[in-house]
Amino acid sequence: MTDLSGQLKKKAEEHFDYMVSVRRHLHKNPEVSYKEYDTTEFILNELKQMGIETHRPLETGCVGIIEGKSSDRVIALRADIDALAMDEDGEAKKEFKSERPGAAHCCGHDAHTANMLGAAKILMDLKDEIKGKVILIFQPGEEKLPGGGRLLMESGFLQKQGVREVYGLHMNPNYEVGKIATKLGPLMARPDEVEIEIYGKGGHAASPHETIDPIVLAAQVIIQFQTIVSRNINPTEPAVVTIGRIRAGSTYNVIPEKAELIGTVRTFSRETAMLIKERMDAILKGVVESAGGRYDFRFNEGYPAIDNDEKCTQNIIRTATELFGEDRLVELDKPVMGGEDFAFYQQEFPGAFYFLGSRSEEADSGWSWHHPKYNIDEKAFLTGSALMAGLALKE
Ligand code: NI
Repeated sequence: MTDLSGQLKKKAEEHFDYMVSVRRHLHKNPEVSYKEYDTTEFILNELKQMGIETHRPLETGCVGIIEGKSSDRVIALRADIDALAMDEDGEAKKEFKSERPGAAHCCGHDAHTANMLGAAKILMDLKDEIKGKVILIFQPGEEKLPGGGRLLMESGFLQKQGVREVYGLHMNPNYEVGKIATKLGPLMARPDEVEIEIYGKGGHAASPHETIDPIVLAAQVIIQFQTIVSRNINPTEPAVVTIGRIRAGSTYNVIPEKAELIGTVRTFSRETAMLIKERMDAILKGVVESAGGRYDFRFNEGYPAIDNDEKCTQNIIRTATELFGEDRLVELDKPVMGGEDFAFYQQEFPGAFYFLGSRSEEADSGWSWHHPKYNIDEKAFLTGSALMAGLALKE
């Protein structure tokens, strides 16, 4: 693949400016999960201009299909396209900061889309090298349940195409721009969401004995939740219970009727997630009912954990090494606790996911995902687009 490697890298350089302009256009015009209408139109138009067959199996998001020589090798490459419902700090991104209040690409999905469109251009340039078919997935709603990946799988579209392998990436600010990080087996956690309402009895803050204080109950519940991971889960197994928001009360001297908690649970198996769910419910029952209050508890099952297939992981490692040398590769020994709905594709197709380093001082892109200052070093496209195209071409 030596010659092909050289061509892939050269093509990535040729299309670099294109990818930068796509990324900046999308960054300026972010759309939140399942509302990616303009983004979808934009991608469809780009694919059509490249001469790629397009499909729209869902309300938003789309799929491109490149037919190569006849073979049963059908490779799917996936990008996600949605922005987060937040405002960004656009100081370092002046020329292309979000023009839509309440929406911002602070998870890098603008970059994933630009990178995939760049890979599409490379693949069209090297179309004679394609054995079989390449499916380019631009999925909506990665950031929000039920997950665009789930919806696309439920649509049956990819199954009909006979997908054999699927690959996806995420920009990662923890690695220097151009690094490629992955591992065999579990890579990212299963994120579930919890919603809790604790109902007490409101009243005057100076007469607590005449009330059932939901704030005190919420405090006890949160502290007790901290014992689930430390006392109920096998210490060799990673798990997280985090309450991310607590809402109760209105002023200094009123005990409210109700406290609301929401949070996330991260695990690597449904079994562990269900154990945590049971323990949360038991704690709520014990604490709240013993004080005479009542509660509602919802445990919304999120995405499965990402579990990288052996052959596909090896393909990433081999292709990355052939393209860029061993120095660029980071073989992780531990998974991360973030979640990704790429896991839905892996439920039915062998697949592997990798991180693409996007940090540099120059781009001030060391801020974490979902931080208002989150940014990427666009030079990551030189690596990402060549690698994505390479994965589709390499047997
Ligand atoms: Ni993301």
